[in-house]
Amino acid sequence: MSQIVRVTEMHVRPADPAEIDHLAGIWYDGWQDAHAGILPPELARRRTLDSFRDRLRAALDDLRVVGLPGGAVGFCFVREDELCQLYVSATARGSVAAATLIADAEARMREAGVETAWLACAVGNERAARFYEKHGWRRVGTVMHQPDDSGGIEFEVWRYEKRLR
Ligand SMILES: CC(C)(COP(=O)(O)OP(=O)(O)OC[C@H]1O[C@@H](n2cnc3c(N)ncnc32)[C@H](O)[C@@H]1OP(=O)(O)O)[C@@H](O)C(=O)NCCC(=O)NCCS
Repeated sequence: MSQIVRVTEMHVRPADPAEIDHLAGIWYDGWQDAHAGILPPELARRRTLDSFRDRLRAALDDLRVVGLPGGAVGFCFVREDELCQLYVSATARGSVAAATLIADAEARMREAGVETAWLACAVGNERAARFYEKHGWRRVGTVMHQPDDSGGIEFEVWRYEKRLR
């Protein structure tokens, strides 16, 4: 008889270069789900699978993933005091995956001496906003933001902050 197993624990680990393609797929799909409908179409045209691969390669040293090698279900990376990217696959949403990743990211920033961390969340990404607020992040304003490799395209984001110390 088949049985549904609810995953209640996951471990975060450094990414392996061999899983960049897989993680780029998670990023591409998550971007389509969360951002394609609310961000400028010209940005969507730049957000190809290749562009995500390149950015993941560039972030490899800071890249953390959940899920077994070959079966990662999400990733996150931070840059100094910024939580830059947090994506989990559609099948892992609502599980402990994203919560485990953000706890790891916060711990790493805290250990690095960051007092207040920040992140940019596209205006209208309600699921992500709810997730961050649930985990103690506070919306401090709406600001213009130009993400990496955006070709100069700017858009409004909600700035979230969390005191870590
Ligand atoms: C953002 C993300 C990492 C959060 O992980 P998650 O596993 O989906 O988060 P959770 O399910 O724990 O929390 C999401 C909350 O939003 C709620 N929610 C879902 N859809 C919603 C909507 N349209 N509006 C408001 N809240 C919504 C959920 O019910 C849940 O709240 P609850 O626990 O009080 O019921 C994940 O959704 C994701 O990867 N999304 C695509 C990429 C993305 O947007 N990344 C963030 C970029 S800033």
